[in-house]
Amino acid sequence: MPCGARYGSYMADQGRQRLFFALWPDEEVRGQLAIYPPRLRGCGGRVVAVDNLHITLAFLGSVDEATRCCLEEAADAIQLPPFTLELDQLGFWRRPHVVWLGAEKTPESLLDLAELLKKAMIGCDLEPDERPFQAHMTLMRKARRPPAAEDPVQPFSWHIRDFALVLSETLPEGVRYRVLRRWGLK
Ligand code: 2AM
Repeated sequence: MPCGARYGSYMADQGRQRLFFALWPDEEVRGQLAIYPPRLRGCGGRVVAVDNLHITLAFLGSVDEATRCCLEEAADAIQLPPFTLELDQLGFWRRPHVVWLGAEKTPESLLDLAELLKKAMIGCDLEPDERPFQAHMTLMRKARRPPAAEDPVQPFSWHIRDFALVLSETLPEGVRYRVLRRWGLK
C-alpha cells in the first residue's frame, strides 16, 4: 500500500507532525538508565523522564504527510547491521546547559546510520543539521553545573537492533514522545 494511502485519514486530521529519528531504548536499557536522574540532582536543571530518554539520529521538525512518507520510504531502504554502543561518558555542554550520556567511541554503523538519515532528509527536501553528528542522550536540560566527580558514569553496553521514527507532542504536562515506526537492523 502506498505510504500516502496508509496515513491519509490519520494525517488529514492531525496536520503536520513534529518528528525525529532516534535510537529508542527498550525497557531493559531504561532500567540501566534509571540510575541517572537521582544522581544529577546537584546539577540544578530539569531531568529528562526515564521514559523519554533516547538518542536523536536526525531531528526532522514539523513535517507534512508527503514528507513523512518520503522519509519512511528512505528509511525502508536502509540496510545496516546491528551494533553495540558503549555508553561510557557523562558530559556537560555549558552553552545549551545540557548534561548528556555518550560514548567515547562512536561505532561506524551509527555514523553510517546518521549519515543515511541526513541524506534521506535532503532527498525529502528537508535541511539537516549542519553540525556533525554527535551521539548523545540528553539526561538533563537547563543544567547549571556538570555532574559531580564522585558520581561517575557507570558504563554499559547497549545492543542496538533497530531505530525508530518518533512523534514529539507538547502537552500541558510537558513533552510526550511516541514511537510511530521501527526499522530493524540486520
Ligand atoms: P537534544 O536531546 O540534543 O536536545 C526531540 O526534540 C529530540 O530532537 C531531542 O532529543 C533533541 O536533541 C533533538 N533536536 C535536535 N534539534 C532540535 C531542534 N531544533 N528542536 C528540538 N529538538 C531538536
